[in-house]
Amino acid sequence: MQPSIIVHGGAGDIPPGLLEAHREGTRRAVEAGWAVLASSGSALDAVEAAIVVMEDDETFDAGRGSFLNADGQAELDAGCMEGTQLLVGAVASVQFIQNPIRLARAVMEKSEHVLLVAHGAQRFAQKMGFPICDFTDLVVPREFERWQRFLRERTHAAPQVPADPADTVGCVALDQTGHIAAGTSTGGTRNKVPGRVGDVPLVGCGFFADDELGGASSTGWGESIARVTLARLALYHLQELGDPQAAAQAAIRVLRDKVNGSGGIILLSPAGRPGWDHNTQHMACAYRTARMDAPEVRL
Ligand code: GLY
Repeated sequence: MQPSIIVHGGAGDIPPGLLEAHREGTRRAVEAGWAVLASSGSALDAVEAAIVVMEDDETFDAGRGSFLNADGQAELDAGCMEGTQLLVGAVASVQFIQNPIRLARAVMEKSEHVLLVAHGAQRFAQKMGFPICDFTDLVVPREFERWQRFLRERTHAAPQVPADPADTVGCVALDQTGHIAAGTSTGGTRNKVPGRVGDVPLVGCGFFADDELGGASSTGWGESIARVTLARLALYHLQELGDPQAAAQAAIRVLRDKVNGSGGIILLSPAGRPGWDHNTQHMACAYRTARMDAPEVRL
């Protein structure tokens, strides 16, 4: 089987000054994942490698640089799935963990569960030897200032609402053995109610992988994505239509028409053909297949 990989850096309205950072960040992520696949690594290792690059890049709403909740804290969600045994691992509302995608994978591989949340997830992280990071490892000045603006505007009659930057990161990979994996990671929505959880750690909503159906990762307004189970929906359309690009478009149409939702989706067919679509202004997306000499970045 020929390997293939696709990543996204979030669907939304990216300010002009951040467009290049989104292009560069998704390119670096897909290159990290491709390096794993090219040296016969697993699809799950490639997904983790690509997502860690974007979690560590403060451009994106995931890991370091995440949006803050209404209390000014980073609460992170992540989930992943491998498509052979349909194993799933996810974490929600975790704090002081630099790479929640790694913790989600540990839930998959080292616990009997599919989803751990908040304090329980953190206790599991400590038991698994994950380092506990500092506030400043996750909270960047851009987001701290944005949160302070939110506090000021909340007390005034006519708040200036800035354009929504893109949210969330994700990846789908197919390895040389024909296995597919998918993963997604996010800081969630800006100024969210503490304890709010979106689509990202919910299997079928934020991510899905099945070697026989393909793999998908979602991004956008989590409440709307969860209501249409966007990742699983995209793979249903892929089975129906046979074309990943048409399947992505069909899934985003349902998101828009049924629940007035907004967001984006990336997917790979079981043979590694990529597809993507979004109904937001932007979505940074990068992919590489065995036929390509270098990644293609779309934004
Ligand atoms: N899609 C990310 C979220 O709504 O939390």
